Amino acid sequence: MDSTTTAHPPFALIESVRNRPGDDPIFSLNAEASARAAAGESILNATLGALMDDTGQLCVMPSVAEAITRVPIQRAAAYAPILGPPAYLKAVIADVFGDGPLAAQATAAATAGGTGAILHAITTFLDAGQALLTSDYFWAPYRIIASHTRRAVETFRMFDAEGRFDLRAFEEALLGQIARQGRVLAVLNVPCHNPTGYTLDESEWNELERVLARHAGRAPIAVLFDIAYAKFGHEETGAWVRHLAALAEHVQVLVAWSASKAFAQYGARVGALIALQRDDEERTRIRNALSFACRGTWSNCNHLGMLAVTDLLTVPEHRAASERERAALVELLAQRVEAFNAEAARYDLHYPRYEGGFFVAVFTPDAPATAAHMRELGVYVVPLGGAVRVALCSTPVAEIPRLVQALAAGVAAAGAGAEA
Ligand SMILES: Cc1ncc(COP(=O)(O)O)c(C=O)c1O
Repeated sequence: MDSTTTAHPPFALIESVRNRPGDDPIFSLNAEASARAAAGESILNATLGALMDDTGQLCVMPSVAEAITRVPIQRAAAYAPILGPPAYLKAVIADVFGDGPLAAQATAAATAGGTGAILHAITTFLDAGQALLTSDYFWAPYRIIASHTRRAVETFRMFDAEGRFDLRAFEEALLGQIARQGRVLAVLNVPCHNPTGYTLDESEWNELERVLARHAGRAPIAVLFDIAYAKFGHEETGAWVRHLAALAEHVQVLVAWSASKAFAQYGARVGALIALQRDDEERTRIRNALSFACRGTWSNCNHLGMLAVTDLLTVPEHRAASERERAALVELLAQRVEAFNAEAARYDLHYPRYEGGFFVAVFTPDAPATAAHMRELGVYVVPLGGAVRVALCSTPVAEIPRLVQALAAGVAAAGAGAEA
């Protein structure tokens, strides 16, 4: 038989993944910005979610590098326990909840970054075919993880007419899900929401508590708090942790913890999913389900990274060094937030209350048109539905006037286009 004329054998890729997009839109924009900069253009790239210093270098924490070098090679080379090293899990729980009575109700599993924690929450607290509930502005990978695991995403309107967190819309969506799917997994990225920068204030937390308490008896409800940016919040841990404790009386509280931003260590993929549960048997069942999920996903996580982070969380002088270094990074970002708010006040820009965090979202009638106009000015932001996401984390403070001017021009151009 002449092999050159043989028909190609049937392709093996399954139908549901045949048309997956080949690249992440944010990484594509970043690649375009980098190519133009390499060709000599003056480019301001506010797309990527990593903290850069004012010279454009990735911010790193020396204490983290030192902790990594202190880990004995034989320990790092060995497999980690499937659920994660017990000292690591204890340290992560204590990082969020302290080591008081609340920590005694917590169980945790090591995950590949916060992303892995979100994955485990979705596959452990939702059945296939069901949808998680999150705000209509959300971190796009939520949908990718849900779709990859044959779940879906449903959203509620994030901001009401006054620009506050729309807890009525949340309540309606919650009731809809209880009626339709008989369970809820809500995912709330607080504090310092990506992509809007929003942080719930005290009255919003109280209302969230009331809403969840009101409906807690109707169906199993889990709420995953994605705290990826928590250490960069206006006011650190304390305040919102108290609310999690109160919420745990009514619903299954879950926390996606990540070392990526907290230790400026994105590449080590260190994270954890924490669950608060005061019923001992249910806590054991959750622990077992998570352990099984770990074994069935990645077997076990990066031992070197987890040992280094344990050292940084538990050895007082190492912890103090990392806290000092982090404080400098928080301050770097705070200066940008302040400069952004001051500069934006000079223009007619609309954006949610912004007190800290890596991003802010600026509302626009036509996000693709705004982003395209800004690209012509050499400024890169990420278009979302109804807004563009601005990564202050990668914008040098001296470039903020240029950034804000380009935003104002981009929003105005989109407005003019929409009216035409
Ligand atoms: C909202 C949000 N959640 C979770 C993550 C998870 O990050 P990682 O998997 O690196 O911990 C990110 C990272 O960008 C994020 O923006």
